[in-house]
Amino acid sequence: MDLINKRIVLGVTGGIACYKIAELVRRLTEQGATVDVVMTEAATHFITPVTMQALSGRPVFLDAWDPRVPNNMAHIDLTRGADVVLIAPASADFMAKLAHGEASDLLSTLCLARACPLLAAPAMNREMWANPATQRNVTQLRADGIALLGPDSGSQACGEVGDGRMLEAHQLLSEVIAFFQPKVLAGKHVLMTAGPTAEPIDPVRVLSNRSSGKTGYALARAAQEAGARVTLISGPTALPAPYGVMRVSVTTARQMHAAVMAEAASADIFIAVAAVADWYVKNASTQKIKKTRGGPPQLEFEANPDILADVAGLARGPWCVGFAAETENLAEHAEDKRRRKNLPLLVGNLAQNVMDADATELALFDDRGMHSLPAATKLDAARRLVAEIAARLPKP
Ligand code: CTP
Repeated sequence: MDLINKRIVLGVTGGIACYKIAELVRRLTEQGATVDVVMTEAATHFITPVTMQALSGRPVFLDAWDPRVPNNMAHIDLTRGADVVLIAPASADFMAKLAHGEASDLLSTLCLARACPLLAAPAMNREMWANPATQRNVTQLRADGIALLGPDSGSQACGEVGDGRMLEAHQLLSEVIAFFQPKVLAGKHVLMTAGPTAEPIDPVRVLSNRSSGKTGYALARAAQEAGARVTLISGPTALPAPYGVMRVSVTTARQMHAAVMAEAASADIFIAVAAVADWYVKNASTQKIKKTRGGPPQLEFEANPDILADVAGLARGPWCVGFAAETENLAEHAEDKRRRKNLPLLVGNLAQNVMDADATELALFDDRGMHSLPAATKLDAARRLVAEIAARLPKP
């Protein structure tokens, strides 16, 4: 429940992307938000106020002369208690109204009268989006401090392909949740590793481990929410890339090492969460090993590069955070690892408790000793960890 106690005014304007808004209202309320839906007349041609009312569980507002509002001040009353106004979909027409400060219907009046931030998710045909008039309005809206979410690129309801597609409901939800997170990593480039690595034995078999990638992916999401540009070098996992995160998929430790080293120079922070295989199979077979070949295969191992140690050893490298998943003597092993790899911060957890679980309990090790964090979901723990990292970064 990421939106508890949050009040959102959701302005819906006319466009076929309205079909995604029913899902968005559902998802916002599931996260605990109170959603007041305000629709333009055009929007009601695409989706009904009854649908919006049923999903938000609240009255829907359609025009400035609503007899249900005794003081006739819905444009003021609705936004005074709101934390944010979200316009989705934001049509080309409505963006033009916003850019010119028009107050010609309830929604545009309310936007002008608001005392809270405004987010807008444009949705229109690609030619309408590319039109110089729309682009002028985009520039003006940004200059006025309005945050535009998307638009995305891809196939459009009209059959054309290009820019102007509204973000999906789950992406808009991620944007709204991120809007409420403190921007403690704004302007930072965070480079991360996550998940397991898999070392081939032959073309169909690998040596891997039980890392699910959940902790690393939660941390990537939390860093993105905190305003960072995040590059996530990920071993094989079943998880979708967190919204807004640049994911680079790799398989082996050596591929992970190369992908990290290619980005390390531009990173401000490196967080190594991946469970990297310590060795690879030197004599991996190019053909499938047959059991009829005679006896078990004799595998020869060679050490993999230590990605974290190599990044921490760079002359002007990023600020490094290591992870230690241990099955016993956590404090002793973790502090030993931190010193060995020369890290300002190492995060420890007990492996048997966290592998594939949705909750975790972390302990931080730095120059001042050990500091336990409360047990939490992996996402809440990740958000706390992002705050702890931000507080420890060297001041510029
Ligand atoms: N790490 C890495 N590259 C490796 C091995 C580990 O980047 N080749 C990183 C992990 O992502 C993690 C930390 O180093 O942040 C873990 O340290 P380490 O002790 O090397 O990992 P383990 O293999 O778990 O060590 P041990 O077998 O001694 O427990």
